[in-house]
Amino acid sequence: MSSESLHGKRVLVTGASGFIGSHLCRRLCQIGAQVHALSRTEHADGDARLHWWRGDVAELDAVRGIVIAARPDVVFHLASHVVGAREREQVMPTFRANLMSSVNVMLAASEAGCRRVVLTGSLEEPEDGEAEAVPCSPYAAAKWASSGYARMFRALYQLDVVTLRVFMVYGPGQGDLKKLIPYVTLALLRGESPKLSSGQRQVDWIYVDDVVEGFVAAAEANDGIGQTVDIGSGALVPIRAVVERLGRLITPDIKLQFGALPERPLERVRVADTVRTQKVLGWQPSVPLEKGLKQTVDWYGRWLKEHAQ
Ligand SMILES: NC(=O)c1ccc[n+]([C@@H]2O[C@H](COP(=O)([O-])OP(=O)(O)OC[C@H]3O[C@@H](n4cnc5c(N)ncnc54)[C@H](OP(=O)(O)O)[C@@H]3O)[C@@H](O)[C@H]2O)c1
Repeated sequence: MSSESLHGKRVLVTGASGFIGSHLCRRLCQIGAQVHALSRTEHADGDARLHWWRGDVAELDAVRGIVIAARPDVVFHLASHVVGAREREQVMPTFRANLMSSVNVMLAASEAGCRRVVLTGSLEEPEDGEAEAVPCSPYAAAKWASSGYARMFRALYQLDVVTLRVFMVYGPGQGDLKKLIPYVTLALLRGESPKLSSGQRQVDWIYVDDVVEGFVAAAEANDGIGQTVDIGSGALVPIRAVVERLGRLITPDIKLQFGALPERPLERVRVADTVRTQKVLGWQPSVPLEKGLKQTVDWYGRWLKEHAQ
């Protein structure tokens, strides 16, 4: 299928007010899809082209009602409690917003005869085929279980589900300012010294526009149905190197406090298999890290100026 195939189609984006969801909604509008956006709150810069639905994706009746009313050909399910913390308090919120929500979305979509569902997995999930795999966080456990349900919905109810295992996303508009790149960027732009762990962890970083193209490809591809496909850059870069690049881009004179924060237990080191993704979805990353970081810094610079007034 070509990228024109979403033109004129009805699509539902859950998590539409979020970082990736808002970029995806903009791109889908640009393609000419009829975009139904779902979150508990609307995105602050409300785009008039979007049809907004407010609802909690952990409530089956709410999801059913919205899917019946919106009649989407494709559902992009991005709504999530995106917290990798290991504390017991995270078990229920991640279970509701990640696992229960995915089951609700797939159930409602299969009952309503949707053509395709694109789910959002995570690099935090255990590797395929790992014996006695131990998810590293409540978030990872919920994401991992969702992809099991996706395979079941495919096998038992013939629902076309593609799960995208999304790696570490960065770019303009990441609203959670505690995440590494917004935190470091804003600290440096304000002339403050960011506190960091050792920065040794190797991460596969992927620019948000590339991720959005991955979602579009997953909605349109003939292959990948019932599978989990990686959306990452295919390269590992340590956190330390990324933070140092931000330092060079913004203000090389400020001290970066590596080692000031403790390491998180059970961190996964994983790199995306982009060769397989290219084969399955015809997608490959196109934004180099240096360029993506520069665009991100420029965006936060403008954001800071607007919010300082
Ligand atoms: N950012 C990354 O690096 C990354 C990496 C791998 C995978 N992912 C996945 O990509 C997806 C999007 O991530 P993101 O970074 O864009 O997250 P985000 O900015 O935190 O957005 C999460 C979205 O989910 C919505 N949401 C949360 N709970 C909800 C509920 N119960 N009912 C309805 N909506 C709910 C939020 O809106 P309201 O609060 O307004 O409801 C928000 O729109 C998630 O599935 C995440 O797990 C992200």
